[in-house]
Amino acid sequence: MSRFPRRSSASKSFEARSAAAHRAEPSRAVRKRELRTDAGIETIAIRGGRKPDPSTGAILTPIFQTTTYAQDAVGVHKGHTYSRASNPTVSALEDALGALENTPPAVCFSTGLAAITTLFLATLKAGDHVVVSDVVYGGTVRLLNLVLEPLGITASFVDTSDVKAVEDAITSRTKLVFVETPANPTLKLVDVEAIARITKKLGIPLAVDNTFLTPVLFRPLDLGADITVYSTTKYIEGHNATVGGSISTRDAKLLDRLRLFRKSLGSIQAPFDAWLTLKGLKTLPLRIRQHSRGALEVARFLKSHPKVTKVFYPGLSEFEQYDLALRQSQGQLRAKKGLKNADSETFFGGIVAFEVAGGVDSGVTVMNNVQLCTLAENLGATETLITHPVSMTHGDVPREQRERTGITDGLIRLSVGLEDPADIIADLEQALAQVVTKATTTRTATTRTTTIKTRGRARQLA
Ligand SMILES: Cc1ncc(COP(=O)(O)O)c(C=O)c1O
Repeated sequence: MSRFPRRSSASKSFEARSAAAHRAEPSRAVRKRELRTDAGIETIAIRGGRKPDPSTGAILTPIFQTTTYAQDAVGVHKGHTYSRASNPTVSALEDALGALENTPPAVCFSTGLAAITTLFLATLKAGDHVVVSDVVYGGTVRLLNLVLEPLGITASFVDTSDVKAVEDAITSRTKLVFVETPANPTLKLVDVEAIARITKKLGIPLAVDNTFLTPVLFRPLDLGADITVYSTTKYIEGHNATVGGSISTRDAKLLDRLRLFRKSLGSIQAPFDAWLTLKGLKTLPLRIRQHSRGALEVARFLKSHPKVTKVFYPGLSEFEQYDLALRQSQGQLRAKKGLKNADSETFFGGIVAFEVAGGVDSGVTVMNNVQLCTLAENLGATETLITHPVSMTHGDVPREQRERTGITDGLIRLSVGLEDPADIIADLEQALAQVVTKATTTRTATTRTTTIKTRGRARQLA
């Protein structure tokens, strides 16, 4: 006789009944919670695309820390098979990011650069050409120059603030236009609506790296762009806790292709990072507005400081593209349409860049003397971070391209955090007080570059 007694019909029906009761629980837990179609962005960030866990009712999607998923029979499973292809926590983040931008679920990646890499490989092949903003995150330039060019994919780095220059750069081989706005680190803007009119006419997809403003402050897809790309590492997760990336689009075929490429390249996000990002996303609207308020205060302080020679911040009326910043801002667009929840304030994001009199030596003095602002790479998180693009994030951008686009050796990028702006300003003030300008003003940035020392171990550019 078997060690495992056959189940009696009575126990079978008990099992059947309890299974039915168990099945009833999830359906109660996931009853539909549709948001109003005109729900505000604060509501969407917290509730959009989210539902309690069907098996327990847990209000937060759990961290499904699993490699694989038991299948009921060959070819019969519950939608997930292996966590390189998909994972329920990552899917929950994709649903939430989709709701944020009114698209199907987004596609999430291990880093922002993994998202960009996967996008390029999914849309371009050997012989193809891509038009890219001449000011973009340095890792994007490195990817195109050092990884994709040897594979036969060529890029033209173009001043995408000039619509005509974009039109002129497009050739019969151009299969993608990729812009970043505001651009890292000089905050140059792109008129997305104008560029989209050109790319639509030519049938070329337009992708926008919207990492700096996020859909809370800027909605490229509503202005005609086809694809948005995010380093969720920045404002979306927002706490310096993860690296991650995402892509949103309404193009169903491209979504399928991105998922296929992500599975093939192995570039999916980890479940814990997705969970932290889900948590961060809830406060994104509150945080990015506060970042923006702080940044405006800091930018005004820097502008009035006698040792600061240049300030780049799209919210300053003297910023070269201030009118475009205003026109494209989500607050202004909603107000124009008479929509509810229109912001009474207009927000321009949390990044400020500046140069100090005396060039590179003075810039280095400021960066080496701040105390509250932390000298580090990254941006968009709670802590104020101060970055030297030339030796950190943009070190792999060719010198000629940096010089042509205003990424000078003395440029400082500040990601204004959520501390009291008065404390950030006080810190900058004391660091600027250490700058002695007289001996350094005669030296040009170019000749000083080689003297920038990297302390510690070998330089690792992010
Ligand atoms: C605008 C922008 N896009 C993409 C990236 C790359 O993101 P990640 O560091 O998450 O790979 C960065 C990183 O700084 C960035 O600033």
